[in-house]
Amino acid sequence: MNMIRCILSGLVMSGLMVAAKDVPVMGWSSWNTYRVNISDSLIMGQADAMVRHGLDSVGYRFINIDDGYFGGRDTATGELLIHPTRFPGGLKPVVDHIHSLGLRAGIYSDAGVSTCGFNWDNDTIARNVGLYGHEIQDCRMFFGDLGFDFIKVDYCGGTARQNKDHLSFDPEERYRIIREAMDATGRGGLLLNVCRWDYPGTWVDEVADSWRMSTDINCSWRSIENIIRQNLYLSAYAERGHNDMDMLEVGRTLTDEEDRTHFGMWCIMSSPLLIGCDMTQLRPETLRLLKNTELIALNQDPLGLQAYVASHDGETYVLVKDVDELYGASRAVALYNPSDSPDTVTLRFSDIDLDGKVRMRDLFEHKDLGSFEDEFSVEVPAHGVRIYRAVGDIRKERSVYEAETAYMTAYQELYNPVAVGTAAYMPDSLCSGGVKAANLGYRPDNDIVWRHVRSEYGGGYELQFAVMSDGDREMYVSVNGGPGTLVKVPDSGSGLSTVSVDADLLPGDNAVRLYNDGAVMPEVDKMELVKK
Ligand code: GLA
Repeated sequence: MNMIRCILSGLVMSGLMVAAKDVPVMGWSSWNTYRVNISDSLIMGQADAMVRHGLDSVGYRFINIDDGYFGGRDTATGELLIHPTRFPGGLKPVVDHIHSLGLRAGIYSDAGVSTCGFNWDNDTIARNVGLYGHEIQDCRMFFGDLGFDFIKVDYCGGTARQNKDHLSFDPEERYRIIREAMDATGRGGLLLNVCRWDYPGTWVDEVADSWRMSTDINCSWRSIENIIRQNLYLSAYAERGHNDMDMLEVGRTLTDEEDRTHFGMWCIMSSPLLIGCDMTQLRPETLRLLKNTELIALNQDPLGLQAYVASHDGETYVLVKDVDELYGASRAVALYNPSDSPDTVTLRFSDIDLDGKVRMRDLFEHKDLGSFEDEFSVEVPAHGVRIYRAVGDIRKERSVYEAETAYMTAYQELYNPVAVGTAAYMPDSLCSGGVKAANLGYRPDNDIVWRHVRSEYGGGYELQFAVMSDGDREMYVSVNGGPGTLVKVPDSGSGLSTVSVDADLLPGDNAVRLYNDGAVMPEVDKMELVKK
């Protein structure tokens, strides 16, 4: 073990506290059930049904018109036209109806020249209706004239693989221009959803309120499981916005168990909750699930956190997040079994930093289960999840910080990380949790940062890093923005090695950053904190 001892006096870094931009959007969207086959009466009928079922009273507020309303573009004036038979009176009466119910209205467009419906659903009337070159004009129409409150901006027109015109644009540039055009309308509080089908990169946080992190959902367990899997290690990027897991398929053809898992995981992972079924035909079970206020409270929790993976044994996962109070003794926990057979999942309270007696409340059953010590086990059916509030006597300081819960400034999923030199979370069975952070280093932003390292009283700690090094590598450790301490990591062969740094942490939140601006870094499994 390579031990380098150094005491750093911590510096307070600005912006360390979690600040949610807003809670995730809740509402309904037309795409999953109707694709481009929408109309004014259909949309208004769904808005009426939302209110009739009291869904608005538990937080569902948005009625979002997805693709299918376009009627082309006037070649002389550039004005966006609305579909003449689907919306013969235009969009204004629809928006006004939605608003008259006390709801908010959402619309859809594309960052490029034409939309996905034109390219993939043969909606030929929708040629040249994207925002490209019409940002100011269209935003004025959507948010000024028509009064929409939200927009989802797709990317079929922006990437050559997706459009018939073979056009490609830079997504960051396109979405920044669109955000500026939205701001230029002078209306505050407008919400932008970026639909780029993978986590686009940390720039998105400055631009959007939510962002899709996966390709399109479909009504199959395979799709639900795939989206959850892709979102398991994105909790660090959800702090000031929301990883959008896509519109809900709840209430369509999944089994009841799968519907519960789908809804429960979207709630605890703080995804937007956009109902995607026909709300005029809701089964009582579906309505009960969609109106489960204890699960919705996890989603709408003002801390705005996404649950992270606290442990991963076999095929099952324990996910956890703080609710109500940061570092309080009350935590939301999901025991998730994506496999095809039932499995007993054990929640070790030490993994979620609770101690003493822990009271468990089942949020699907709305039932207190009693108090437990050390651990709690339950059989979780195939494709199932159990979600609880766990309230301990004591909230302990977290001692294990997995790399897959950390923030990597250059992290993105649009381009092959090896080709563009950005870091990635990679499976590795030798690592705890089965995942490591790899491809780090070579530039200042290709770092890894645990942004919320909590010390109750502050003081001296040993920071132990489990790393893998193919050859002799180096990294620097900086605490709270202080000077970097060089750590030399000798070749770890085919396994892991541990290197340590002593540091003084401040009482409260601390940031620990590993970086190497000029060379490849070791791969990182986790950091452990040992109080001295
Ligand atoms: C893309 C989006 C979907 C939907 C369709 C509309 O596929 O990812 O969510 O908006 O376009 O055409």
